[in-house]
Amino acid sequence: MTALTQLYPQHQADISLQGLYLSHNIRALGNEAPFVYSNYVTSLDGRIAVPHPTKPGLVVPKNVANARDWRLFQELAVQADVLISSGRYLRDYADGRAQEILQVYDDPRFADLQTWRSAQGLSPQPDIAVVSASLNFPVPAQLLSGERQVVVITTASSPVQKRKDLAQQGVNVIVVGDVVTGKTLVTAFQESGYQYIYNATGPKVLHLLLADNALDRLYLTQVNRLLGGAPYAGIVDGPLFEHPIDMALNSIYLDAHDVGQLFISYNKR
Ligand SMILES: NC(=O)c1ccc[n+]([C@@H]2O[C@H](COP(=O)([O-])OP(=O)(O)OC[C@H]3O[C@@H](n4cnc5c(N)ncnc54)[C@H](OP(=O)(O)O)[C@@H]3O)[C@@H](O)[C@H]2O)c1
Repeated sequence: MTALTQLYPQHQADISLQGLYLSHNIRALGNEAPFVYSNYVTSLDGRIAVPHPTKPGLVVPKNVANARDWRLFQELAVQADVLISSGRYLRDYADGRAQEILQVYDDPRFADLQTWRSAQGLSPQPDIAVVSASLNFPVPAQLLSGERQVVVITTASSPVQKRKDLAQQGVNVIVVGDVVTGKTLVTAFQESGYQYIYNATGPKVLHLLLADNALDRLYLTQVNRLLGGAPYAGIVDGPLFEHPIDMALNSIYLDAHDVGQLFISYNKR
């Protein structure tokens, strides 16, 4: 397997892809407060999602998604107490057109991560939180039958009957107020006892988190490929931030495999 080269903070050759983000040791970061981290694979022209080839809506571009980035996604997911997803994701999932994020490291290729998680004394899989105002999604059966808690975080104006239906299925429905914000989201997680929170949603939820200074670390995989395409999603979508959000560069690794990509991470300043 092609080795990586670390470019920052210092130059170092021959770094193994396997174990790279486990070595970031997320669970040693932060203090008592929730530690929120997010991860995107993006094209050089900033696209994390492009129009689905045959259906309405956007999808992660097939020609930037890749197995090496996917391995790192799993290494980040396995370190979490809870993984954040969205109503949109579960609708697409039910329609069979979402990239799989719920099974995390179930794949036999990631058996080592299962072993890692169990050695930490953690539950077999992180719980799943779904951010949604509409509550218009089915909860996949495999999530309801397993050991993972499903948490839905929603607004006071969401449909009451749908909330009741979800609760009847064993879902923990949390109404955070009139709107979901980064702050209310993180408070809901803290009150539910979650400390390490992996955000796997797209640009709207990331905007909420950033606007409230609630994102502790951002991971980006930047593939050396330009896509074009419209409409598209970038990593953040929402109003101009009141103050620009500056991040501190944490690490950069060069992956020379195939077309090439950079694995980059930033910390909150
Ligand atoms: N390349 C990558 O690494 C990457 C990573 C993540 C996502 N993506 C792509 O980005 C696109 C968008 O992803 P996404 O839809 O998961 O992310 P999103 O744009 O952050 O979230 C949208 C969904 O979250 C809920 N939501 C957002 N803000 C809310 C608020 N303030 N209150 C209540 N609910 C709120 C809504 O659910 P309801 O509609 O149910 O109310 C909405 O449909 C997708 O095409 C996805 O594939 C790419």
